[in-house]
Amino acid sequence: MKNHMEFSGRWVLVTGASSGLGEEMARQLARQRANLILVARRGARLNTIKSELEQAHGIQCHVIPADLSSPADVDRVHAEAIARADVYAVILNAGVTHFGPHLDLDWAGFQNMLATNVTSVVRLVNLFCPYLIRQNQSGGLLLVSSMAGLLPVPYQAAYAGTKAFITNFSQSLSQELIGENLSITVFSPGGIDTAMTQGSKLRHFENTVFLQDVKSCAADGLAALRARKPLFVPGRLNRTQLFATRFAPRSLVASIARSAYRRVLDKA
Ligand SMILES: NC(=O)c1ccc[n+]([C@@H]2O[C@H](COP(=O)([O-])OP(=O)(O)OC[C@H]3O[C@@H](n4cnc5c(N)ncnc54)[C@H](OP(=O)(O)O)[C@@H]3O)[C@@H](O)[C@H]2O)c1
Repeated sequence: MKNHMEFSGRWVLVTGASSGLGEEMARQLARQRANLILVARRGARLNTIKSELEQAHGIQCHVIPADLSSPADVDRVHAEAIARADVYAVILNAGVTHFGPHLDLDWAGFQNMLATNVTSVVRLVNLFCPYLIRQNQSGGLLLVSSMAGLLPVPYQAAYAGTKAFITNFSQSLSQELIGENLSITVFSPGGIDTAMTQGSKLRHFENTVFLQDVKSCAADGLAALRARKPLFVPGRLNRTQLFATRFAPRSLVASIARSAYRRVLDKA
């Protein structure tokens, strides 16, 4: 397998490309002259981004409006993508959270989170891995997880569970795929300054050191994919925090996180 991925002139599929981290990764890939397949529910927003990026960078974009909580839409994304382009890399970034007491999350909300954050990701991995292996171009997948997949996060309990699944799934699968012409990277940011944090009670972290700016986070994610890292946590502060948690009992880590998030919820 080639050591590093090169995106110029290649087709990269990005889910959740209509805002936040996914949109920013799409913008940075366009600057690197990658062609893009943009996936999210807001088709009109994706078409605006497509026009802007095609004009600015002379690349090609396809838009696939899709609700990834629907299994039929997930399968359609794969079918349409490979019918329209020679896909080289897949960034599975779309995701939703619930910040607040777990018992306030209704069942439909939980099912939507599980379908979007977990089921759609596994399904797309199952569909794209054999395809990328057949293509034999040393392609790669980036699964966007979170620090919440590495640590307990009270008040984002279900979200932390979905991201723990993605982190373990990806790290396990990347070992199974050693020897194949394909890499899989799991990317685990801490808080990022995006709509996910701005539009919720999490915005009370805004302008604090806890939120990484979306541009640097997207650049870190793409660098990890390019370098085929099995797992990457961006930001020195996040990595230091993670390192420190190795020396403390997990119950203490959970209790410190509980106090920090409780304070944020109380401010909201
Ligand atoms: N923000 C943070 O602090 C943070 C930290 C660590 C990890 N992350 C992860 O980073 C990823 C991107 O989040 P973000 O911060 O950029 O949030 P965001 O700005 O809210 O973006 C979420 C993206 O996911 C798409 N999406 C949500 N539900 C979807 C569905 N059912 N079908 C298709 N697309 C769907 C949204 O598009 P539509 O609404 O148009 O469908 C949007 O493009 C997520 O996986 C998140 O868990 C975020």
